[in-house]
Amino acid sequence: MKKIIIVGDNLALKLSKKLNTEVILTEERIFPDGEIKPRLKKETSAQTAVLIIQKKQKENINDYLLRFYLLSCKLKENYQKVIGILPYLPYARQDTYFLEGDPFSLKYIAEMIESKLDVFITVNMHEHRKKINEVFNIENHNLSVFKFYAEKYFSKINKTKNLILVGPDDEAKHFVNDFRKGVDLPYYIFEKERDFKTGKVNFKKPNFDFANKDVLILDDIISSGGTIIKVVKILKEVKAKSLSLGICHGLFSPEFVKNIAPYNISQIIVSNSVENTSSNYDITEMIASFLEQKLLIK
Ligand code: R5P
Repeated sequence: MKKIIIVGDNLALKLSKKLNTEVILTEERIFPDGEIKPRLKKETSAQTAVLIIQKKQKENINDYLLRFYLLSCKLKENYQKVIGILPYLPYARQDTYFLEGDPFSLKYIAEMIESKLDVFITVNMHEHRKKINEVFNIENHNLSVFKFYAEKYFSKINKTKNLILVGPDDEAKHFVNDFRKGVDLPYYIFEKERDFKTGKVNFKKPNFDFANKDVLILDDIISSGGTIIKVVKILKEVKAKSLSLGICHGLFSPEFVKNIAPYNISQIIVSNSVENTSSNYDITEMIASFLEQKLLIK
């Protein structure tokens, strides 16, 4: 048996309990100018290290990314194989050059991350114009929570009788398809248009009768909430009976929390890929079984 060690924060602790393996927790010092120094609380020997880091609710994504990078550099010095798990991959939406002079951020971030890892794993990466294996050159895996959401929350037939799945845009079709691997339900994908200069999005009126339907909107990210609130508003106008949300990365800005409140959402399913006080799906369940079955780490 290959000896592995799990490294990181509270997700690492949960994962190590599920896999029944040793864990090394990390701690961090932040200097007055914002520089971070994440460190391993102890050093041990093992063949493989699995690093998993959760984005804290209020921190900047750059701190989260840099913490992950500095810790993977450190682990690469000590272990033969380093598997890095970054449940929320920042910069994935900048997956091309939209305007003249733009950076291809996803590509550059992937180059930085993979330089210190042997395997990279993320969860519901925003795969719009680029798939994960088009930007990473090391072994890579993009796991999806949506099949598990279906099995955990909607597998009882009486709950799903009148339910329709909604994807806010074409990119969300993957999430709808993943959900339908767990419970096969009818679906509708909205048509979205984005102005790349202002970032503003607009939706075409749906060509479907939502009256008296229970609707579950599936999407990878809620950040400002701009996208989801627009879809929710349209669905209310076309007289949907109830609205629920199934979201992977709940970045939930204060603006989103304030603006969604009047809409009386029945249920929000959201994972702990990002630290979130309302999370109700633990991604370490899915990650533990993936590591055991696919990467044969035990
Ligand atoms: C966009 O295509 C994504 O899938 C999400 O819909 C979007 O990133 C959500 O961001 P926000 O909440 O800021 O509208």
